[in-house]
Amino acid sequence: MKSFAVKNKFIPRGKITLFGDKSIAHRALIISALSCGKTIINNFPIHDDSLATLNVLAALGVKITRDKHQVYVCGGQGLRQPKSPVFVDNSGTTLRLILGVLAGTDFKTKLIAGKYLSARPMSRVNNPLRLMGAKITARKKGQEEYPPITINGKCLKGILYRLPVASAQVKSAILLAGLFASGKTCVVEGVSTRDHTERMLKYFGADISINKNRVILNPGRCLSSPGSIYIPGDISSAAFFLVLGLIIPGSKIVIQRSSLNPGRVGIIQVLKRMGAKIKIEPLKGCKQIFEPMGNLTVSSGKLKGTLISRAEVPSLIDELPVLMVAACFAEGKTIIKGAGELRFKETDRINSMITNLRSMGADIRLVGSGSLESIIINGKGFLMGAELKSFADHRTAMSMVVAALAAKGNSRLDDVSCISKSFPGFLTALKGLS
Ligand code: S3P
Repeated sequence: MKSFAVKNKFIPRGKITLFGDKSIAHRALIISALSCGKTIINNFPIHDDSLATLNVLAALGVKITRDKHQVYVCGGQGLRQPKSPVFVDNSGTTLRLILGVLAGTDFKTKLIAGKYLSARPMSRVNNPLRLMGAKITARKKGQEEYPPITINGKCLKGILYRLPVASAQVKSAILLAGLFASGKTCVVEGVSTRDHTERMLKYFGADISINKNRVILNPGRCLSSPGSIYIPGDISSAAFFLVLGLIIPGSKIVIQRSSLNPGRVGIIQVLKRMGAKIKIEPLKGCKQIFEPMGNLTVSSGKLKGTLISRAEVPSLIDELPVLMVAACFAEGKTIIKGAGELRFKETDRINSMITNLRSMGADIRLVGSGSLESIIINGKGFLMGAELKSFADHRTAMSMVVAALAAKGNSRLDDVSCISKSFPGFLTALKGLS
C-alpha cells in the first residue's frame, strides 16, 4: 500500500502523449502471435495488464522480445503446451481473450488468476466457447464460474451467438476461437461494443465482416503480419486528463495521438453534451490506418448535467468512474442508465465511487438493480477534500486523484500502487502538467 496526499493548488497546463491503448495492446500481441511473420508493435504500453498478456504468450511458446515501448513478436509458429499452470495476473482481458485462443489448441492448459480477477465472473465466456466444442472446467460458486480455469482445446465448430451481456471481451474470445473453427462464426450484439478485435483481424488479413449488429468471421484464411503497427494513445487514460482539464479553472491540456476509435469516444461525446470545450483534431494521412487517432485539446469551463443512455454505456464503461467525478462538478442532474456492469470490474465500481464521492459531499443515489441499475448524481459544482480509498482499483484510484485535485481542501488516498495495472506513469504525467 502506498498512500498519496493530494493538495489542490494545481492548475494543469501543457501537452502529454500517452502510451498505447490497453485494449488494442492485448489484441496486438495475441493477433501478432497467431499471424505469420514478425510484427513490431510501437508505442506499446508497459503496465501490469499488458505484461500479463505478453507473459502468457511467452509461456505458450511465442517468441517475444521488448525494447522499452517497442515489442517484437515472431508469429505463426504455433502454440506449445505450457509446462505448468499459466498465471494471468489480474487482467480480465488477458484471461478472456486467451481462452478464445486456447479453445482452438489441441492441448490442455490451466489458467490461474490473481486475487481480484479470481472473484470476477467467467461463465459469460466459458459458455459460448463450450457451445463451440471446447472442454472447460472452472471453480464454481452457485451458478457462476471463476478462475482457475482449465481448458482443453478441441476441434471447434462455428456458432451463431447473441451476446447476453454487452462485452467486447466475450465477443473477442468467440471471434478468436472462430479462427480455429470449422464453419462460420457469427456474433450478434444487442448494444455495440469496442471493435478492436474486428479491426485488427481485418488488418492482419482475416475474412471478417460487419453487417449492422452482426460480426461474421469465416475461418481458413492465413493471418499475416503487416510488419509494423502503432498503437494510438489510451483514451481511457486520456479521460482522466480530459476531466481534470475541465474541472480545474484555468486549465488547458493537449493530449496528443489519442485513440479516437468510434466505439471508445463516448467519454468525449458525453462531456461535450455537458458543455465541455474539447477540440478534436483527427490525424489524417498517417500510416496507422486500422485504428483512428488524433489530438485532443481541453480547456476548463462550466459543465451541466446530462443523461447517459444504456446504449452509450459500453462506449465509456471504463470512463464512468471519472465521468461520475465530472458529474459532481457539473450543475444539475446527471443520470447514468444501465450501469450495472460496473459492479463486475476490478472492484465493484458503483460501490467504490459512491463511497468516495459521498465522503467528499456528493449527492448520489441509485435506482433499479442488475443490468438496469442507474446512478443519479445531483451536481453541486464542487466537492470537499476527504480521506479516500482506492479499493485496490486503478480507475477508482485515478478518478479520486482527479476529484481531489479539484476539491476544496486537501485529501489523502490510501493506496496508489494499484495504478500500475494500466497507467504506472499517471502521477508523473500529472506532475509534468504543473
Ligand atoms: C475490454 C472490454 C471491457 C472493458 C475492459 C477492456 C476489452 O470489458 O471494461 O476494461 O479490452 O475488450 P467487458 O468486455 O467486460 O465489457
